[in-house]
Amino acid sequence: MAKHDQVLVGLDIGTSKIACVVAEAGPDGKVDVIGIGTHPSRGLRKGVVVNIESTVESIRLAVEEAELMAGVDIQSVFTGIAGSHIRGYNSHGVVATKNNEVTREDVDRVIDAARAMNIPADQKVLHILPQEYIIDNQDGIREPIGMSGVRLEAKVHVVTGAVSSAQNIVKCCNRCDLDVTDMVLEQVASSEAVLMQDEKDIGVVLIDIGGGTTDMAIFLNGSIRHTHVIPIGGDHLTNDLVIGLRTSAREADQLKRKYGACMTNMVPPEDQIEIPSVGGRAPRPMPRQVMAQILEPRVEELFEMIRDELQRSGFQELAAAGMVLTGGSSLLDGMVDLAEDVFDMPVRLGRPQGVGGLVDVVSSPMYATGVGLILYGQRYRQNPQHIKATEHHLFSRVWKRMRSWFGDTG
Ligand SMILES: Nc1ncnc2c1ncn2[C@@H]1O[C@H](COP(=O)(O)OP(=O)(O)OP(=O)(O)O)[C@@H](O)[C@H]1O
Ligand SMILES: [Mg+2]
Repeated sequence: MAKHDQVLVGLDIGTSKIACVVAEAGPDGKVDVIGIGTHPSRGLRKGVVVNIESTVESIRLAVEEAELMAGVDIQSVFTGIAGSHIRGYNSHGVVATKNNEVTREDVDRVIDAARAMNIPADQKVLHILPQEYIIDNQDGIREPIGMSGVRLEAKVHVVTGAVSSAQNIVKCCNRCDLDVTDMVLEQVASSEAVLMQDEKDIGVVLIDIGGGTTDMAIFLNGSIRHTHVIPIGGDHLTNDLVIGLRTSAREADQLKRKYGACMTNMVPPEDQIEIPSVGGRAPRPMPRQVMAQILEPRVEELFEMIRDELQRSGFQELAAAGMVLTGGSSLLDGMVDLAEDVFDMPVRLGRPQGVGGLVDVVSSPMYATGVGLILYGQRYRQNPQHIKATEHHLFSRVWKRMRSWFGDTG
């Protein structure tokens, strides 16, 4: 049985499904997936918990399944956070170094200075992701500690989220007797699992299209530059099919996964499907193209919203590596081709990578966040020095403070 200090658990609380991924970290730093549990999610809307009881029940079932498969008792998890309450800002701070050489304290102070900005009262800082340090006008520095200089500047990406949403996630986990070690922005987690380092270096746009939300993250020069959440996902496609095909949500979702496509001209006109009707009526035959005609405008609409956000961010021209699509809805037939058309850049499908063990079980883009949470956990466990110097240290301080607001979770 795996020892506890080697076990890492990622709990992705999504709008469509809860996925609990259990991994074991080997002595060589490699991470092997040893179990997974999934359960349809019933208590979320657009990435946010709206029903605690149903969410707790779904989490419990997913965790139990993962525990059985992995043969471990799960006590603590890394969990994700998403929803349209999430905001991302770029900020910077400047301090004078104490002894003409940058120390960890200087780095802490400069990051603290960078996070000093006006945020709405109901929002709290979730992440402070350092982009680069500048020492006496020398820019592009990633590891400033030990370097000489008098003026230390930090550029950071600050992610904030609604306190209540974070509290509800922690509450749900605690009700299942789980401790939340860290809460990670979902696209930050997914990026760990699906992006390559060189893509992050030369510039890449990550799009995680789930059930309730579409999460964006833009990377350049190795670090995160822009984040955004659009409250539209695969569930909206399903809803359009419910109305357009006059069938139940469950059937519509199954039809979408099996026969759905978002480019009408990719579907042969002679392809026929059967639509199960509601109210005991007989199933109806229908050309498969009709489904694509319903889905295409909605996906286009979503892509246009992404394009607008890309333009707003100012990074559209800078993503030399193009775009990576992940999340369950990226599996819809034609997504990659349509994205290439709309964005006029290279697009690929992002499947989780970088883990061993039960790789096949977690190879779907649906598990990008779950696998990413594990890799995120491993990266920080492996490199505690780095934690202290950068976001994790601050994050855990922020986290401690957040826990104190929660009261009962301390
Ligand atoms: N093969 C497929 N073709 C089209 N859509 C699919 C396919 N497989 C899954 N989906 C859709 O993907 C969505 C679920 O994706 P995912 O599991 O990534 O969402 P989630 O993480 O639960 O939600 P969110 O991240 O929005 O909170 C559902 O809308 C589902 O219908
Ligand atoms: Mg998701």
